[in-house]
Amino acid sequence: MQIVSVSSLKGGVGKSSVTLGIASAALQAGVPTLVVDLDPHADATTGLGVRPHEGRDVGEVLRRPRRGALERAVMASAWAVQDGRDSKALDVAPGSARSSHLDRSGYRDKDLGRLERALAGVTGYDLVLVDCPPSLSALTRTAWAASDKVLSVAEPSLFSVAGTKRTMTAIAQFEQSRTWAVPAAGVVVNKVRHSSAEHRHRLAELEEMFGPLLVTPVIPDLPVWQQAQGAAWPIHRWPGAEARDLAGRYTAILHGLLDRAD
Ligand SMILES: Nc1ncnc2c1ncn2[C@@H]1O[C@H](COP(=O)(O)OP(=O)(O)OP(=O)(O)O)[C@@H](O)[C@H]1O
Ligand SMILES: [Mg+2]
Repeated sequence: MQIVSVSSLKGGVGKSSVTLGIASAALQAGVPTLVVDLDPHADATTGLGVRPHEGRDVGEVLRRPRRGALERAVMASAWAVQDGRDSKALDVAPGSARSSHLDRSGYRDKDLGRLERALAGVTGYDLVLVDCPPSLSALTRTAWAASDKVLSVAEPSLFSVAGTKRTMTAIAQFEQSRTWAVPAAGVVVNKVRHSSAEHRHRLAELEEMFGPLLVTPVIPDLPVWQQAQGAAWPIHRWPGAEARDLAGRYTAILHGLLDRAD
């Protein structure tokens, strides 16, 4: 089971979209996947067409991360249900504002092990995707502590490049401060417009900064993404050439993630 967090210091760069794109690719490829929605805004949960039941959410699980607690909170995504797929094809541990209790300052180091504890003993999935809030808060570090890999999402813009550098530095420092297995890092570049000279310049800058850590292919800025998300529909089932292009790119990213785990 490969555990991958999707995070960034900056909001709105596409963490939840990357989570949903990889989840869509995994459903299409038949890779049993669990999405853990750590963001108190719960956008990934909404995107997967799930309405959490009271008390069955990640916030509750992290409050008391006992064995079996996460599995009790997990629900089948609407994507898998519409597809008539078995349970565990694509499930979600729903997000809720209750998870923000771990985002307070003054958390203790041992609190960072809460998601790792909750995931211990979870079986039946090949991939776990953790969608993080837009900060390097305790909640995000809770995800990193549980992960084999951290994907940092960047846009080809000045502030996002700077934010990605800070995120990667924070991941490296986090690795050094930990006594348990360290997560590998990668950078997914999202919302790329190749027609923009500024974007081409920032993309070259990201390539120079992060070299082999840059995940290929990059994801273009395409309005069809917002349409598919607005309908809570997987990009792999959305019609048209642009959706097919996005879907193909996410399939390639999924394969890259799973190959590296072998
Ligand atoms: N490749 C893309 N092309 C077009 N629109 C995109 C793309 N990626 C993301 N978006 C849009 O950008 C907006 C922000 O994306 P998203 O919610 O995934 O970002 P986020 O980093 O998870 O945000 P937050 O920090 O609030 O959690 C959404 O409206 C989404 O549909
Ligand atoms: Mg998000």
